[in-house]
Amino acid sequence: SILILDFGSQVTQLIARRVREAGVYSEVAPFQSAAEAFERLQPKGVILSGGPASVTLETSPRAPQGIFDAGVPILGICYGQQLMSAQLGGNVIVSGDGGEFGQAFVEVHKPCALFDGLWKPGERHQVWMSHGDKVDAIPPGFEAVATSPGAPFAIVADEARRYYGVQFHPEVVHTPDGGRLLANFARHVCGLAGDWTMAEFRQTKIAEIRAQVGSGRVLCGLSGGVDSAVAAVLIHEAIGEQLTCVFVDHGLLRAGEGEQVVSLFRNHYNIPLVHVNAEEQFLSGLAGVTDPEAKRKFIGKTFIDVFEAEARKIGGADFLAQGTLYPDVIESVSFTGGPSVTIKSHHNVGGLPERMNMQLVEPLRELFKDEVRELGRELGLSEQFVGRHPFPGPGLAIRIPGEVTKERCDILRKADAIYLEEIRKAGLYDAIWQAFAVLLPVRSVGVMGDGRTYDSVLALRAVTSTDGMTAQAFQFPGDFLPRVTTRIINEVRGINRVTYDYTSKPPGTIEWE
Ligand code: XMP
Repeated sequence: SILILDFGSQVTQLIARRVREAGVYSEVAPFQSAAEAFERLQPKGVILSGGPASVTLETSPRAPQGIFDAGVPILGICYGQQLMSAQLGGNVIVSGDGGEFGQAFVEVHKPCALFDGLWKPGERHQVWMSHGDKVDAIPPGFEAVATSPGAPFAIVADEARRYYGVQFHPEVVHTPDGGRLLANFARHVCGLAGDWTMAEFRQTKIAEIRAQVGSGRVLCGLSGGVDSAVAAVLIHEAIGEQLTCVFVDHGLLRAGEGEQVVSLFRNHYNIPLVHVNAEEQFLSGLAGVTDPEAKRKFIGKTFIDVFEAEARKIGGADFLAQGTLYPDVIESVSFTGGPSVTIKSHHNVGGLPERMNMQLVEPLRELFKDEVRELGRELGLSEQFVGRHPFPGPGLAIRIPGEVTKERCDILRKADAIYLEEIRKAGLYDAIWQAFAVLLPVRSVGVMGDGRTYDSVLALRAVTSTDGMTAQAFQFPGDFLPRVTTRIINEVRGINRVTYDYTSKPPGTIEWE
């Protein structure tokens, strides 16, 4: 396996994902527990992630010296590269010119095992840079094998020790050959076979779940989405009857979604399911709440409250299972205890009250959406179910900026259903990562028949993405948007204007709140 040491980069799990894509098992460990993780895993290679700190400061994170003495190949990425320089006898400085951010080109000067069979000297390749500091002198034994205008040590290598450092980020899609560079490191440099699969992930997780849970009882919160369903099916496979699924229907789901989940669990998997209709509790608590973070916090807290009440009813549970994915984790909290920045708190992990006396079981915490889908297929879920677009835990509440009311939920549900129906009819559903409508707290004037209307504005959004971390607006063909607009305005009372959102992420986010 490969051990990835996390120094707090927003994209560390992307490294793990690329390595998994290369068919090699990898685990991410926070730098603080590096020595323990190394001992436990006995990895065939180590990757040091990027991070927001500056190695020029005494207090910034370091890798334990033992990692460098272990004789395994090491790849340092960005901060990881700088850290290798600093710890192995080179030098790092704060860039005088403010650093390099975004697309850059590296020029290859010498062959290197890292890009064997991939890049040749004399070639130029696109990479993605994001650094303020840079390596100023490389340690003894290293040489620069590629340069970029802003980084004279864009790629450095010590072939004897099999140490490599890259200033750019090979793990992001904006480095087109990045996945292949990481695959080269894992397979060619570290000599790993590349035969690891999702079937093995399933078995590994099942063993982990059993070890964590023991003979305890687990309550799994189903949200209506793919993630919690996959988590529940996996956990059920691990511990069977020790699991009770509770579907808290917060009344903020899309049309027909709740029914689908109930039927899947009860009829298809035969997993016992408690279906709690808590719409009123959620909506009454959301009355008057307009701040997005307050909505998330309230929904998260209420979710847990309802679980606790259910847990008491069924005689207690020791664990709470959730389908938290990596993007939820990284955008919610700085889980390394390190310095990554909070963008928004996704309720699944952000709203857990301190007082909660159940431990968490989150078997999907390292995975990205498409990997969860693959795992879902592996577990026998239907293509139609696993193919469903992601849906946020707080549901329609964060697609109704301003106050959430039953009436506004119903309007949005109707409009959203028409939009999705047309997308499916046009055969575009699978080409889109996520499509949804947002009911704006804005009224605009219109004419309908002979009358003047003063109704709500609806925004349509559809994005393509590979992992939800970045996204582009989907370009609908021809007359699709005008057709949907007409249908929505004709069929949904309360909406008299429809707009389309072309914002990409970044700088926007996928959801409006
Ligand atoms: P953003 O809006 O942050 O969304 O670009 C990225 C992905 O996360 C989903 N999302 C959430 N999921 N709880 C969730 O479970 C949340 O509070 C939440 N907010 C956003 C979003 O739908 C997209 O797939």
